[in-house]
Amino acid sequence: MSQYRELYDDWKSDPSAFWGEAAKAIDWFKPYDRVFDPDQGHYGRWFVGGACNTAYNCLDRHVAAGRGEQAALIYDSPVANTKRTLTYAQLTDEVATFAAVLAGQGVSKGDRVVIYMPMIPEAVIAMLACARLGAIHSVVFGGFAANELATRLNDAQPKVILSASCGLEASRIVAYKPLLDAAIAAATHTPERCIVLQRPMAETPLTGGRDLDWATLVDAARRDGRRADCVSVAATDPLYILYTSGSTGQPKGVVRDTGGHMVALLWSMQALYGVAPGEVYWSASDVGWVVGHSYIVYAPLLNGSTTVLYEGKPVGTPDAGAFWRVASEHRASVLFTAPTALRAIKKEDPNGLKIRDYDLSHLRALFLAGERADPETIKWAEEHLRIPVIDHWWQTETGWAIAGNPLGLGALPVKRGSPTVPMPGYDVQVLDDAGHAVAPGTLGNIVIKLPLPPACLVTLWNADARFGPSYTDEFPGYYKTADAGYIDDDGYLFIMGRTDDIINVAGHRLSTGAMEEVLASHPDVAECAVIGRADALKGELPVGFIVLKAGVARDPAAIEQETVGLVRDRIGPVAAFKTSVTVARLPKTRSGKILRGTMKKIADGESYRMPATIDDPAILTEIAAALSSRT
Ligand code: COA
Ligand code: AMP
Repeated sequence: MSQYRELYDDWKSDPSAFWGEAAKAIDWFKPYDRVFDPDQGHYGRWFVGGACNTAYNCLDRHVAAGRGEQAALIYDSPVANTKRTLTYAQLTDEVATFAAVLAGQGVSKGDRVVIYMPMIPEAVIAMLACARLGAIHSVVFGGFAANELATRLNDAQPKVILSASCGLEASRIVAYKPLLDAAIAAATHTPERCIVLQRPMAETPLTGGRDLDWATLVDAARRDGRRADCVSVAATDPLYILYTSGSTGQPKGVVRDTGGHMVALLWSMQALYGVAPGEVYWSASDVGWVVGHSYIVYAPLLNGSTTVLYEGKPVGTPDAGAFWRVASEHRASVLFTAPTALRAIKKEDPNGLKIRDYDLSHLRALFLAGERADPETIKWAEEHLRIPVIDHWWQTETGWAIAGNPLGLGALPVKRGSPTVPMPGYDVQVLDDAGHAVAPGTLGNIVIKLPLPPACLVTLWNADARFGPSYTDEFPGYYKTADAGYIDDDGYLFIMGRTDDIINVAGHRLSTGAMEEVLASHPDVAECAVIGRADALKGELPVGFIVLKAGVARDPAAIEQETVGLVRDRIGPVAAFKTSVTVARLPKTRSGKILRGTMKKIADGESYRMPATIDDPAILTEIAAALSSRT
């Protein structure tokens, strides 16, 4: 019998008592005055008056409690051909030392530090060192281009940037330093210092005056015996800013607080994932994404578990058995990845033969998130792994699952295609466009009744006024998830797609609006539209339609290639923007709105109804013809 229903009802009848109980698992430097103050912030604030430190709760307290010799972090990199284990005592020492390095560069509580690093232990050390000082980190994913980094530098205004000489992709070395230099040159804000870790695969020259060598600074701190203590911060102080795609080229800086974040994440480790302290937990994501923040770094360490940091891909490093090798070798009890990674594995190893090469007897469950887990992929994984395969749904904004199947409370029956039920903390409802509740089984806007639970975003960095228009104005009293879906008669949620212009490419959230801004900047492009076309491997792939300016006599194919290059240069390879199609005109309503939804249906080969307001129906035939030449 699952305890889920009982716990969910407990939460609903007294949220403060529920989260107050969960908060006992955290060490507070000063107890909070109130679990929840409804009068502060956009929807209230959690644990007001409390003082604490995230790094202390992730590290020091476990060492004090006797976990010093237990592995805290296992780094496994098939691309660097390296493995390294850091115990809680060693990781605490590394973090305290690096925090002293940062303090030596003038970083203190409230300062921002941008981290642009590959999946190496120093990235985790950097995040925790910021947390130790009460500095606010902002990690930027390595697959973003210099321009995206520059946008984040301008917004976050970091005192210091932390980076490495290179990242390692399966087939190439990505030199980070030129990207970093280009970003700083393009940005209006100049950080005082860049601390760069030299990796032996591609060392980089350092710019005198501004750039400092990571290892030299750490060696000096060690020589002088410098270590920084944990700084006491308010529970409501920001721990980090994480930028995510909005509907324009200006990303949203999601601000996470300190106390509520710890409480909810720690609760989720045991109740949702069912992982005990001392067990190994592996989230095969990247620290540049929210999944990496929450479930590579913070939650496993708050829980006293061992986290795995994997620098590699599901396939090609070296083969489709990589995930099973890592899970087996490090005795992971739970693996968390994106469905797209499983689809990549399934494509190369359809019969799951490589799974049989490894002893996976420790692996109890596979959790999937980041995009809709299609039933076929779940079925394949269940059949070959013979463990529960659990879809769960969340967003950068929430920081942890809105809905899932709580393994730790006793799993509920799985319905493939559904991330199961709302977690305590989330009152999830489905509303029509006018804000009225819809009947079970009816598709609508998925919203969360305010207040949001601990760990959810509290504001947008430098854009507090954007919070309402982005999330709460459209459906007063509710947070708009911008996902569409329905709740069935059993209370199971089904997430069907976004209601805005965000697309999901290989589990990565991307804005078609941002891509359109780039296409529109090409001198020969008059207007454009970007849609996400269904893709068997990556879920969706962006396709751009461009209309050339009158009088442009150049070869359209050349212009298309230039636009592909522009998106790669400005947004980054992660956008996977490879298809740009020239068309004579775009389908629009009579009021001039581009019919992107209909274009997507055509691209996906789905039937569509001719929009009543369409300006000229013949244009849809032209779009279909242009696309058919590109399949
Ligand atoms: N630094 C630099 N470049 C990066 C990068 C990084 N950290 N991550 C990805 N890229 C590049 C890739 O090299 C690729 O470049 P290319 O166009 O030159 O080939 C491009 O960005 C697209 O990358 P990706 O989407 O990872 O595609 P892929 O073809 O290399 O791999 C998958 C396909 C399915 C294996 C891969 O997308 C994957 O593992 N996805 C899981 C995603 C995930 O875990 N998301 C987290 C949410 S839970
Ligand atoms: P991100 O902010 O990058 O985590 O992306 C969040 C978006 O990814 C959500 O709004 C959904 O559109 C999608 N998403 C994440 N997890 C799931 C899931 N389990 N099922 C369906 N969609 C998901």
